[in-house]
Amino acid sequence: MTARIQPSILTADFANLQAELGRITAADAVHVDVMDNHFVPNLTFGPRMVECLQAVSPLPLDVHLMISDADRWAPGYAELGAFSVTFHAEATQDAVALARRIREIGSRASIALKPGTAVEPYLDLLPEFDQVLVMTVEPGFGGQRFMADMMPKLRTLRAAAERHGTELWLQVDGGIALDTIAIAAEAGADTFVAGSSVYGADDPDAAIMGLRAAAADAHRH
Ligand code: DX5
Ligand code: ZN
Repeated sequence: MTARIQPSILTADFANLQAELGRITAADAVHVDVMDNHFVPNLTFGPRMVECLQAVSPLPLDVHLMISDADRWAPGYAELGAFSVTFHAEATQDAVALARRIREIGSRASIALKPGTAVEPYLDLLPEFDQVLVMTVEPGFGGQRFMADMMPKLRTLRAAAERHGTELWLQVDGGIALDTIAIAAEAGADTFVAGSSVYGADDPDAAIMGLRAAAADAHRH
C-alpha cells in the first residue's frame, strides 16, 4: 500500500503561499482547505485563490471543500483543474450525481464524512468515488487532537473497498502527526493530510518524509 502525504496549507503563511508550496517538495499533493464560515465556523478562501494556487503549484491540488451547497459549488473547483475535489456528505443533496459530475469534468471525486456521520449508507456507493475522507477532527480548524475512535470507520471502508474490488483511496484529515499516523495507517488509511505537523516543523520536507516512513512501516506490519 502506498502512503501519500498531503500537507495542508491551512497553517502555512497565507501572505506567501507560493513560497510555502516550495517548502513541501517531498509531498504527493497539497491539501487546500476551502471554508465558508457556514458549513464550518471558519473562513479561508474561495475559487479565485484556488485558481491562483493551481497556476503556480508544482504539486497537484487536493481541494477539501468545507462549504454548504456543494452541489452548486464543487464542480467549479474541478473546472479549475484540481486533481481531486472533496465535498462533504453532509453538504450535498445527491452525492452520487455530484461525484459523477466531478469525474466527468476530469477530477477525482472524493466524499468526506464528519466524525458524527455514519459510513454505512455509503458502502454500496463506493465505486462512485475515488476517495473517501474520514475526518479525524471536527472540520474547521488545524491543530486539534486526533480522534482515534474514527478507526472503526476506516476498517469498515477498507473491507468494503476490498469487497467491491475498487481502487479507493482512504484519506484521513485532522491531528495527523508522527505519533498518530501509524494508528490511521494500520486501520487502512493510505492518504494522509497533515497541517500543523508539517508547516509547524522547522523543516517541512523532513517532516513529510518522517510521516511517510512511519505510515509505510505501519502498512508493512
Ligand atoms: C481541518 C482541516 C484540516 C487541517 C488539519 O478542518 O480540514 O485539513 O488543516 O490540520 P492539522 O493537521 O493541524 O490537524
Ligand atoms: Zn482538510
